Amino acid sequence: MKESFTFNYQLFSNWTDLPEQEQRLVDKAYEAMENAYAPYSEFKVGACALMDDGSFILGNNQENAAFPSGICAERVALFYAGANFPNKKVLTLCIVAKGDLMPASQLLSPCGGCRQVMLESENRQKQPIRVILVNQDGRTMVLDSVIQLLPFGFGRID
Ligand code: THU
Repeated sequence: MKESFTFNYQLFSNWTDLPEQEQRLVDKAYEAMENAYAPYSEFKVGACALMDDGSFILGNNQENAAFPSGICAERVALFYAGANFPNKKVLTLCIVAKGDLMPASQLLSPCGGCRQVMLESENRQKQPIRVILVNQDGRTMVLDSVIQLLPFGFGRID
């Protein structure tokens, strides 16, 4: 039997075309990006989670001389949220980046490990997390749920 998986997403030519509240979230993600510690890759990533009480949780990539010990921006933000505010839900997660690792026009898309962590946050809170991805050229993709980034992800859904 053949099955298919499709999903919808929104594209904006620049993040400044987003609704005002989401522009504020992108601003915060850029603020977070400035504090990234990325001396090895020189690729700075910022993440900001908008929580269900209106607060923002910022994260950025934190690298280490022992490369695998570093951690991505998305995980810093989501694990911080889980550690400090376990009862708050993440409404939207925005990710931005700056660096020569990829062309500016290329889609900035979370790595596989971060998708798995994002998916578990979504499953835990039993509510979809909206995802805003801003390329270095400003073009922006908006997804309604992490499922769209990681269909058939690993883990149990209660
Ligand atoms: N990075 C992130 O912070 N998020 C991702 O989704 C992918 C990659 C970081 C890890 C590393 O510090 C740098 O970007 C280059 O890979």
